[in-house]
Amino acid sequence: MSNRNFAIVILAAGKGTRLKSNLAKVLHPVGGRALVEHVVRACKPLGARGMFVVVGHQAEQVGNIVLGLGAKTVLQQPQRGTGHALLVARKAIGGAKHVLVLPGDAPRIRTETLKALMRAHVESGAAATLLTAVLNDPRGYGRIIRPENDPDSGRVTAVIEQSKLQGNQDDIREVNSSVYCFSTAKLWQALASVRPNNPHHELYLTDVVEPLAAQGEKVLAQVVSDGTEIFGCNTRAELAELDRALRMQAAESLMAAGVSIQYPETVVIDPDVTSGADSTLGAGVQLLGHTRLGANCRIGAGSILTDMTIADGVTVKPYSVLSASKIAGGAQVGPFTHFREGVVVEEDARIGNFVEVKKTTVGRRVKAMHLSYLGDARIGDETNVGAGTITCNYDGVKKNATTIGRRVFIGSDTALVAPVRVGDGAYVAAGSVITENVPPDALGVARGRQTNKLGWARARRREMESKKTSPKKGASRKARRKRSR
Ligand code: UD1
Ligand code: CA
Repeated sequence: MSNRNFAIVILAAGKGTRLKSNLAKVLHPVGGRALVEHVVRACKPLGARGMFVVVGHQAEQVGNIVLGLGAKTVLQQPQRGTGHALLVARKAIGGAKHVLVLPGDAPRIRTETLKALMRAHVESGAAATLLTAVLNDPRGYGRIIRPENDPDSGRVTAVIEQSKLQGNQDDIREVNSSVYCFSTAKLWQALASVRPNNPHHELYLTDVVEPLAAQGEKVLAQVVSDGTEIFGCNTRAELAELDRALRMQAAESLMAAGVSIQYPETVVIDPDVTSGADSTLGAGVQLLGHTRLGANCRIGAGSILTDMTIADGVTVKPYSVLSASKIAGGAQVGPFTHFREGVVVEEDARIGNFVEVKKTTVGRRVKAMHLSYLGDARIGDETNVGAGTITCNYDGVKKNATTIGRRVFIGSDTALVAPVRVGDGAYVAAGSVITENVPPDALGVARGRQTNKLGWARARRREMESKKTSPKKGASRKARRKRSR
């Protein structure tokens, strides 16, 4: 079915007062994306003739997100309710025969559900078709009123907001999702009769249902099979709940792609993350941004990977924090390794604990296993970087490069004061402060020469022993002096 006679309107102008936030509600992230982005992405494949996002609070930021996804924005300033938002969008909707309306704060809505709703709406010729859900806890949602004489007719006679429920209406578990299809002409006609008769002086879109039904227009409801799909969020607790659900979905889709996850409820997977089969994620792992994982990788517990590109067969040991870098096949990193950005680790290299690396290429089979800072460096294949090696890349003004050749041995606790080069096959003695280039195959030593004072320790011990026995004498002398006074 073509949806070219539909316009889509997404309501996203509200502040979200109940969140007590400076950030507009629809900008709050859940599952790694702003609320409104989820909704726009669900609508995009519908192929409607236009997709309009009603913006108000932080309109520019909301626009930045949705314009890139092919939507247009309509400014609602001030925000006088969901019905008013539709009036503001009237010009944009133009001559579209039908309009699909969605709230910007319910991110779990699925494209398939929307397709089915639109199809049912067109086929029945209804003036309005509401998407509803039957919830165990319907509090906070508008409730669906069915005709008393014919409750199973599929018809709806009114939507009553939580604050206006009377008598046993509180017990109604069928709620309004705020997703609707309208015949555009009927919508405008009904909206014209709606008044802002609520404490907030807002025009409620829900108030079009009663007059339409009273005029004998067909107002129908489609009930979603899984009520969680329509969950909106008005509070921080609801935000956290939505985030948890979306993260769980992401973990489940990685597992479906052949990834093993230890305690899936503890991992955080962003929507654009991919992984090859037979990789394993430890508890509490976070794969963020555009991280791409190969097959047969092991990512240890508590590691946080952001925008990482990782080839097949890589091991990241626990508690590593790696960002914006690449790791080639067979390499091992961690535990407790930190890549800030622009690191390239080549095949079978090993980077160990408490090694911080930035803008550095680490060649094949290089080992840098302990306690180092490597920044703005190139390290050739098969080089060994000793414990505590530091590239002194910053001279207080600018960053300088360190170039280390192939098969180099850098002794422990070496400071490489950049710019500096160490040639292929060279050695650098432990504890050196290297300020000048070391030629290939040379040994660079830059430290105080050691002298051994023979017998010095024994002599010192003797001196200490003799001091230990003398204090008695001293004390008695003092005592004698006191007495003689
Ligand atoms: C609304 C419905 C309620 C439904 C619930 C489902 C109304 C009056 N009530 O209540 O029946 O059960 O959604 O989640 O419609 N917005 C604007 N402009 C405005 C006001 C709101 O664009 O002037 C936007 C908000 O940014 C939000 C959406 O509309 O994205 C819904 O508004 P919200 O205040 O969250 O409505 P609810 O009280 O949840
Ligand atoms: Ca809401």
